[in-house]
Amino acid sequence: MLKLVCVDDFYTAAKSKLTADGTWDYLEGGSDDQFALQQSRKAFQRYVVRPRFLRDVSTRDLSATILGKNVSFPVGVAPMAMQKLAHPDGECAAAMGAGAVGTIYILSTMSTCSIEEVANAAPNTRLWFQLYYQKDRNVNIDLISRAEKAGYEALVLTLDTQMIGKRRGNLRTPFNLPENAKLANFESSAGNDVNKMRDNSKPVRDMSVTWDVINWIRGQTTMKLVLKGILTGEDATLAVENKVDGIIVSNHGGRQLDCVLPPIDALAEVVAAVGKSDCEVYMDGGVSLGSDVFKALALGAKMVFVGRGVLWGLAVGGQQGVTKVLDIYRSELDLTLALSGVAKSCQINSACVQAYSPQ
Ligand SMILES: Cc1cc2nc3c(=O)[nH]c(=O)nc-3n(C[C@H](O)[C@H](O)[C@H](O)COP(=O)(O)O)c2cc1C
Repeated sequence: MLKLVCVDDFYTAAKSKLTADGTWDYLEGGSDDQFALQQSRKAFQRYVVRPRFLRDVSTRDLSATILGKNVSFPVGVAPMAMQKLAHPDGECAAAMGAGAVGTIYILSTMSTCSIEEVANAAPNTRLWFQLYYQKDRNVNIDLISRAEKAGYEALVLTLDTQMIGKRRGNLRTPFNLPENAKLANFESSAGNDVNKMRDNSKPVRDMSVTWDVINWIRGQTTMKLVLKGILTGEDATLAVENKVDGIIVSNHGGRQLDCVLPPIDALAEVVAAVGKSDCEVYMDGGVSLGSDVFKALALGAKMVFVGRGVLWGLAVGGQQGVTKVLDIYRSELDLTLALSGVAKSCQINSACVQAYSPQ
């Protein structure tokens, strides 16, 4: 891994390892024309940094307070399903890798290590649990109470996955979980059949839920509540009215509705709608450089989450690979701060970036 110096190096190394049928398509691909996937990354190039000089940047502080607790730098791991597709140690290794650098790991409902296994493997990692709201309310009750009991701090309710996006790669080449891997949070055979879970004609998720569900979830748990997938000011306003603790501005890594804004471009509208309320705003999607993190913070995010980059680290080097990728984000963010004349990441503000049209 010594020669891998940026997240793109991990992409290339991971691609050469993940050769099982359909696996790369699943992990890397987006939906439809992959417009959202491609634009989410490109959009960062439409913002540039406004560096300031002759400022003391001899010591820098990247830490942040997220939902009342510290992270050593404002980059966490987004929820991603079935991480044993990337590495046999799956989510346990990824969560330990995130803990080793002092940041948050969000476990997916569709994980291949269970809620409890991850909590036991990574007792020093700040863990959040992502919920795909299931048709059977008892399944939701079970998942929520297990996460709370296992010490997860927050529940991340994903909003943008009423049906599975049309991912052409896997329609052409389906994938299977590696032998011995299963959807570890579900006992039933239905829950363990990846293809059944992904079959839109037999939805297992509840497509009828409305904003009332927030109150219902509040009644089930004292965990903090974060909504993932918001892209508009209107929904951000509703989130604030419903007193959620946080919002992740996200287009699901370009895997769901393809004709949507890149999250970095949707951020300003959401931040404006949230205003001075206590609701924290984070973003994910296309973050591939430390300077991308800087730009997201300048546009109002408190923290960013990374999906695929972390998966490439996991594929290449298990727990150490995850830590190495997160360290790359950290050191690139640190360098951007120094070269921009900002000593603390909490001092990054809207004057630190400007919009730009690349030729
Ligand atoms: C392979 C894969 C699986 C994912 N699974 C989930 C999931 O189970 N739940 C969820 O809320 N988001 C899921 N996502 C979306 C991520 O949480 C995140 O929004 C997205 O990957 C961020 O974009 P990035 O990959 O460009 O960093 C998944 C993304 C990928 C790439």
